Amino acid sequence: MVEENQEEKKVKEDAAKAAADKIAADKAVEDLETKKAAAEKAAGTEVIKPEELTPEEKEFENSLRPKMFDEFTGQEKLVKNFLVFVAAAKQRGEALDHVLLHGPPGLGKTTLAYIIANELGVNIKVTSGPALEKPADIAGLLTNLEEKDVLFIDEIHRLSPVIEEYLYSAMEEYKIDIIIESGPNARSIQLNLNPFTLIGATTRSGLLSSPLRSRFSITSHLEYYDAEHLNTIILRSSKILEIEIEEKASFEIAGRSRGTPRITNALLRRIRDFAQIKSDGSIDLKITKYGLDALKVDEYGLDDMDNKILSAIIEKFNGGPVGITTIATAVGEEPGTIEEVYEPFLIQEGFIKRTSRGRETTPLAYKHLGMKPKPGSPTLFD
Ligand SMILES: Nc1ncnc2c1ncn2[C@@H]1O[C@H](COP(=O)(O)OP(=O)(O)O)[C@@H](O)[C@H]1O
Ligand SMILES: [Mg+2]
Repeated sequence: MVEENQEEKKVKEDAAKAAADKIAADKAVEDLETKKAAAEKAAGTEVIKPEELTPEEKEFENSLRPKMFDEFTGQEKLVKNFLVFVAAAKQRGEALDHVLLHGPPGLGKTTLAYIIANELGVNIKVTSGPALEKPADIAGLLTNLEEKDVLFIDEIHRLSPVIEEYLYSAMEEYKIDIIIESGPNARSIQLNLNPFTLIGATTRSGLLSSPLRSRFSITSHLEYYDAEHLNTIILRSSKILEIEIEEKASFEIAGRSRGTPRITNALLRRIRDFAQIKSDGSIDLKITKYGLDALKVDEYGLDDMDNKILSAIIEKFNGGPVGITTIATAVGEEPGTIEEVYEPFLIQEGFIKRTSRGRETTPLAYKHLGMKPKPGSPTLFD
């Protein structure tokens, strides 16, 4: 008896120690990230990256996240369709069909997942591809879903094949097989799940396997925002943050945000700092230009990788045409990421052309990098 108690005590102590270790490890990682961000900031090399956020930035983002469709700016076609799908599912009293949202980082995929759940009036459980390691992780989530709930899996292209396999029957028939007990008694039983909606988000839809992709009946692509829409987003955010901002200043920020609401909001936050310290707190065009220059924000809103891609094509391949794989090798990035995350913006803004022989830079790209177009190429006015 006494022995057993001691054993129990030891198990509890071990568990407590493991928990403490985990907290310490998480804290260490968080500290490292904060320190890294601070160091970059101090060195003046800080780049506002849509995909890497500190915990503080995440909190800031959440405070600005629209909760319902009527606060969500732009993506009109997509929103119009979702209003119909959501209303129809509600009218039938059924779970909404599974949804796949794809598009570059920072355009509103996570925001939309929350909005859809809100508009449906159901709970949302949030996880991500890399966070799901074992079948038990996904089984736990699925069996805890209430009827018609939303399960949101971010970065769904990073799911392991085992987990993906697991999702097939869950998505199709609301059923999963789980193994219970171990050793000679181990057996598989089938569990029924409540009907639910899986919302997957990805920046790299090209990496999704076709069996998984085919199980989503609603697939939506998010597009870059134009300056008009970004301007509306800035005005909304300034209202929430109680910032005074001139329309001209707002447009200046909008035009340098790489078509991305996440960058827009991050820049607004930075410019607010400049206005507070270097001026009277309200944001006008002068302080905005000053701040954007101090932050070394590109005049077209291009980021480091965009500029690297353009200069690689121009300097190493004489302006192209050159294949995507070759460009990718030159800049040290995956071809798929160049194609799905970076290139669409560069094409939309007219820096790159896609031809049958590969990618070519346009005169605008030369102008932007302060270079002379290669002889014989068309001018900006052709
Ligand atoms: N259409 C929109 N209207 C207003 N704000 C938006 C919109 N889309 C995104 N945002 C803002 O941009 C930030 C990033 O959006 P998020 O949904 O996290 O992007 P993603 O998941 O695609 O990377 C959020 O804080 C949100 O406030
Ligand atoms: Mg997201």
